[in-house]
Amino acid sequence: MKALITSGGRGTRLRPLTHTQNKHLIPIANKPILHYAIDYCVQAGIQEIGIVYSADSRAVPEAIGDGSHWGARITYIPQEAPLGLAHVVKISQDFIKDEPFVFYLGDNMVVGGLERFIDAFEKSNSNCHLTLARVNDPERFGVPEIKDGKIIRIEEKPKYPKSQFAVSGIYIYDKTIFEAVNHIQPSARGELEISDAHQYLLDHGYSISYSEITGWWKDTGKPYDLLEANRLILDNMEADLAGEMDADSLVTGKVRLAAGSKIINSTVRGPVIIGENTIIENSYIGPFTSIYDNCYIKNSEVEFSILLKECKIIDVDIRIEHSLLGNDVEIVKAQGKPATHRFLIGDQSRVELL
Ligand code: G1P
Repeated sequence: MKALITSGGRGTRLRPLTHTQNKHLIPIANKPILHYAIDYCVQAGIQEIGIVYSADSRAVPEAIGDGSHWGARITYIPQEAPLGLAHVVKISQDFIKDEPFVFYLGDNMVVGGLERFIDAFEKSNSNCHLTLARVNDPERFGVPEIKDGKIIRIEEKPKYPKSQFAVSGIYIYDKTIFEAVNHIQPSARGELEISDAHQYLLDHGYSISYSEITGWWKDTGKPYDLLEANRLILDNMEADLAGEMDADSLVTGKVRLAAGSKIINSTVRGPVIIGENTIIENSYIGPFTSIYDNCYIKNSEVEFSILLKECKIIDVDIRIEHSLLGNDVEIVKAQGKPATHRFLIGDQSRVELL
């Protein structure tokens, strides 16, 4: 079994964070989104991984490397233009050859890994195994029509969905998918749609099995949706206090504190993850918060938030909640007169004041 992971796309819905980085490299619970996909594949025993990236940027190959970090071999496959997910599969045929493979959309996250789906695919002897998640807005996804426990049709982003299920971005195929992606035509938006490839399989007598999944996440809307992914991951992590905390601090719930970090005279209520060389001083950190490396939080309160590296929050009187800070962001108390709010904010940022 091989794996094929996508890492392209402009990530326009996650601006401003994606102005400076590929969305697959944004950390959730202090780990780039793409790492989760690779972790899941490796945990499932897959060592040969292909990553398809937009040919106009080497950011992903540079950040991820050759796979030796995971004990895996990563092959990079450039995609010249965003011509659809079935096109991604099509250009990867030389890498996959005749083997079955997991096709994993690198911006999807799923709690519990892939093994159960691979098992279900192997037991069912099908040509394609889909993972379905119950959602409130199926019209944003590929949607199956199910009759007597069997998928009989799949439509991409239908106006009138035939079920409450989304086809999630974790698929398992045998080689017949190449016949499908080599025969379908581009859709009205000019892309080779993965749902059309699935429909091709059904139309030509190939079998599609499926598993229902829970604990699935994908960025469907606003940047704040990243907080939901963060919550999902933190809820399922293990505690690990490698850093230091003093006797005046109170740490409860699941907390991961990396080496070189310090909690001083503060309350930290998990689940919370804190990266390396971060200092929390005279502060409160509440549930579902991820704070990355080299941050400094002093005399402030932060809850249900994500802070990327090198952020500073100092002497802020009001609790910061439901917030996403990019790299090297400072929120500090204004000094001097007149007493005013002062902003220095990049493109497409957003500030909400009381
Ligand atoms: C793509 C697929 C869709 C699938 C979704 C899952 O949609 O086309 O069928 O349900 O991924 O993440 P897109 O992310 O391109 O809107």
